[in-house]
Amino acid sequence: MLLSGGTSIGLFDSGLGGLTVLRELHRACPGQRYAYLGDNARFPYGTKSADTIVRYSRECAGFLLKQEVGLIVVACNTASSIAIAALEAELSVPVIGTVVPAVREALAATRSGVVGVLGTNATVASGVYEAALREREAGVKVTSQACPLFVPLVEAGMLDGEIVEKVAELYLAPLKAQGVDTVILGCTHYPLLIGPIRRFLGDGVAVVECSKAIARDVQDLLGLPGAPAQGRGATQYFVTDEVGQFNKLAGLFLGGQHVEAVRIESLL
Ligand code: DGL
Repeated sequence: MLLSGGTSIGLFDSGLGGLTVLRELHRACPGQRYAYLGDNARFPYGTKSADTIVRYSRECAGFLLKQEVGLIVVACNTASSIAIAALEAELSVPVIGTVVPAVREALAATRSGVVGVLGTNATVASGVYEAALREREAGVKVTSQACPLFVPLVEAGMLDGEIVEKVAELYLAPLKAQGVDTVILGCTHYPLLIGPIRRFLGDGVAVVECSKAIARDVQDLLGLPGAPAQGRGATQYFVTDEVGQFNKLAGLFLGGQHVEAVRIESLL
């Protein structure tokens, strides 16, 4: 598919987390142009009400449309869980969120039909993952776990070590007790904690990263060949608050890539 209405792919997140999606898109669709918006002035979304998350998401999408994007990737599970229906109904360009791609991969991976979902408070409270899993596979058993300490740990650059292992145990032990064989990382920050998460869950549990699942969907939508190509598309980075910390941590999310974000005064 050729993008209509614009030539680049727009992504937004409450801040840095969506960069894990961008990293996978850079790998899967390297020739594309990207516009990434991190709404760091209003981070985090995961503790906000549904009304507020829908309003923020509309404003982020509106800003990206002004950058002439032809496709919007909602690179935030919180926004995807709560605002995707509004965005799909209102926007003139295709919208891809995290939930559908991640659910598809989880159902393909599970053998026991017992699936765990990790997410922010708002994502878990929305019940969207459970509903999407059950809609496609009525018999699936779902255990969801809000992990409010994971995002601050990642933002503090704490990706490993004793404290992280303890927090991982706290959140993952209930899922293990339920006998999950597949766990969805339902937050775009969590791939940075993949080491401790995998160590606690063990080899027998499949871990689904929505960032990788979305990248495959975008690749399919654009009709690009399946084999990942080398190189990176040109990317513009926009933030709604200060750039220093964003640029510093962005390298961590993007595998060492240097980022120079532009601060925008208003999304409107
Ligand atoms: N990246 C967001 C998500 O995927 C989490 C951070 C936040 O709470 O805004 O849900």
